[in-house]
Amino acid sequence: MKKIVINGGNKLQGKVRISGAKNAAVAILPAVILSDGVCRIENIPNIMDVNLMANILHQMGASVNRINKTTLEIDPTHITKPVANYELVRKMRASCYLLGALLGKFSQAEVALPGGCNFGVRPIDQHLKGFGVLGAEHSVVGGMIHVRAQHLTGGHVYLDVVSVGATVNIMLAAVKADGKTVIENAAKEPHIVDLANFLNSMGADVRGAGTDVIKINGVKHLNGTTYSIIPDQIEAGTYMAAAAATGGDVVLQNVISKHLESITAKLREMGVEIEEYDDCVHVRHQGRLRRCNVKTMPHPGFPTDMQPQITALLAAADGTSIVNEAVWDHRFRYIDELKRMGADISVDGKIAVVQGVERLNGAPVKATDLRAGAAMIIAALSAEGTTYIEDIEHIERGYEDIVEKLQGLGADIKVIYTEEPSVQTA
Ligand code: EPU
Repeated sequence: MKKIVINGGNKLQGKVRISGAKNAAVAILPAVILSDGVCRIENIPNIMDVNLMANILHQMGASVNRINKTTLEIDPTHITKPVANYELVRKMRASCYLLGALLGKFSQAEVALPGGCNFGVRPIDQHLKGFGVLGAEHSVVGGMIHVRAQHLTGGHVYLDVVSVGATVNIMLAAVKADGKTVIENAAKEPHIVDLANFLNSMGADVRGAGTDVIKINGVKHLNGTTYSIIPDQIEAGTYMAAAAATGGDVVLQNVISKHLESITAKLREMGVEIEEYDDCVHVRHQGRLRRCNVKTMPHPGFPTDMQPQITALLAAADGTSIVNEAVWDHRFRYIDELKRMGADISVDGKIAVVQGVERLNGAPVKATDLRAGAAMIIAALSAEGTTYIEDIEHIERGYEDIVEKLQGLGADIKVIYTEEPSVQTA
């Protein structure tokens, strides 16, 4: 079994380079299917979810060449069938973006029901509603979703909930549809804007991304392009939290500080010093963190994907904090793991009450999902003693070289392989 072992207590110090955004990459790679030429995508994070998406494209017939660690050149022109590999697709949530991309390209798609992190029901009713407005019908047969349109035509979609996935999927299906599509109550996350910029660099006509209303005029052809993915907002936030947790002094390079505003605001409330520059932020902290309340919201609110990491900080802050998870129904499963480290937290539905303890203690814990795993690392870095983290494949799905990057900042962290039985869950 593979585990991460951390001896807590070292202050993080130095510089760390933030990788390309996972959630932009997993939307942009399927979008390549829509192109009539070769696309060169730069600043791609070298992580499992992204490599899985590249493999799916390859299995569908695209030629995928890795130019270097962070650059892929993809020629999608040999994809002739609108069907994605069942076994690969089931492993990740973002594979549902293949539905929109294949529908946009071939007016039909067959894709397995997606997998991904498990924190409650993950419906796709809004995705299907959008496809329906564009003229596509859907059915589920043998675990596969089929969508098919006689003729894809633009239309007016109002999303009942703000959904990143539905916004992405409808954009993908609409860029080559006949006429104009309007998405109202659209998600505004930085990766939505990045996808729109990528599509426009191929010749699409997408306007308003980053606001509530996205307008798309369908075009007949999309050409090949060269495009560089934005830095990962959540990876940056995770290192900011890790620096704060250890009383460290860290410069994060390759960031867009505007994307970090909600995270920066909360960390400042907790007493962390943050200086913002053009493409880097400097994070410093000394002494105990102050309590604060956090409510997760769609962008520009505080991101749900930073909720576990900020809770790990609050677990050892001075005072009682309330964390309200307003996006997902069950994103507190990791709290039992934090409790193994001495955290004093009670959960009632979507609210966690966090009584800050003086210090967390190292313990054997599990990464119950990707961001929960990041929270365990942050808690362990600040804890007294040794923490063993199991199920680290969740962490590897979304953080490029996290162990090496933290070692570079002075953390006592390594990966070990053991034959020991698993720890019991609470
Ligand atoms: N929802 C619906 N119907 C739908 C779609 C969503 O009711 O058809 C609800 C969900 O149940 C949820 C809310 O809308 O309560 C938001 O879901 P959304 O569709 O925005 O989430 P997603 O697209 O499945 C992406 C990220 C997640 C991130 C959420 C929210 C990707 C690949 N995943 O998921 O990222 O938590 O947006 O910001 O972009 C992560 O990176 O760790 C991660 C889980």
